[in-house]
Amino acid sequence: MKDIEQKYIHGHQQSVLASHGQRTAANSCAYFLPLLNKGMSLLDVGCGPGTISADLAEHVREVVGLDIAPISRSVSAKNLKFCQADIQDYEGGPFDVVHAHQVLQHLSDPVAAIKKMGELATQFIAIREADYQAMVWYPEIRGMDLWRELYIERARSLGGEPNAGRYLKAWAHEAGFKDFKIATSTWTYATPAETKWWGDSQARRMRESQWVEMGHVEEIASAWEEWGRHPDAYFCMPHTEIIIRCGKDPHV
Ligand SMILES: C[S@@+](CC[C@H](N)C(=O)[O-])C[C@H]1O[C@@H](n2cnc3c(N)ncnc32)[C@H](O)[C@@H]1O
Repeated sequence: MKDIEQKYIHGHQQSVLASHGQRTAANSCAYFLPLLNKGMSLLDVGCGPGTISADLAEHVREVVGLDIAPISRSVSAKNLKFCQADIQDYEGGPFDVVHAHQVLQHLSDPVAAIKKMGELATQFIAIREADYQAMVWYPEIRGMDLWRELYIERARSLGGEPNAGRYLKAWAHEAGFKDFKIATSTWTYATPAETKWWGDSQARRMRESQWVEMGHVEEIASAWEEWGRHPDAYFCMPHTEIIIRCGKDPHV
């Protein structure tokens, strides 16, 4: 577990799982939901707390949620099972659809992961990644600039690429794929309830984090809290989404 946590920058502490646990198929997978049907099998790579996997299980015949870490989860469904493995070592499958949300940005070889996802998928691969440098917010609070600066530096030192969204097309090409569709979508936090939740959730994550240097934790955490309570607070997180066609389904 220690080794995994050293490579996966966010860790799996309660504040991270609670924040990722707010993710749903509707807010994270809308770009490929129309392509799913009740006959399909789906692998959710790097599923974390599994809330997205559980939602996806309502759209397909069966879902396997795969994660490298041993995570205790509060979701379940009859057609959903979880499995612990590194994507590169996973020996199950094949699946009609192989999906990953906010995972490739943490891998030191994202191209190898896309190739592996391609080996496991018979119809299509769907990947959605954020882009830290392209995130924008108001007001511009110094502690939040410091958060981004330190996060990008630390994530890269662990072998990841926090601006993964802009790399997806290049990575798909490098993995040998030509038949794909790219789009973008955002998460926006702008109502008082949204900004307070996002600001407080980020502050909790900073205080429990393993990557923020001790000397900066309070400056960054309190900046998030201050931002979240500001009446004009606004945050926009852009994502790139790619659907890579692997099979013969003419509708993809
Ligand atoms: C940012 S979380 C995303 C969780 C989930 N997909 C979501 O969006 O809520 C990334 C997850 O990928 C997992 N992960 C990292 N490297 C992995 C690997 N090589 N194979 C499988 N899972 C991995 C981590 O343990 C973590 O749970």
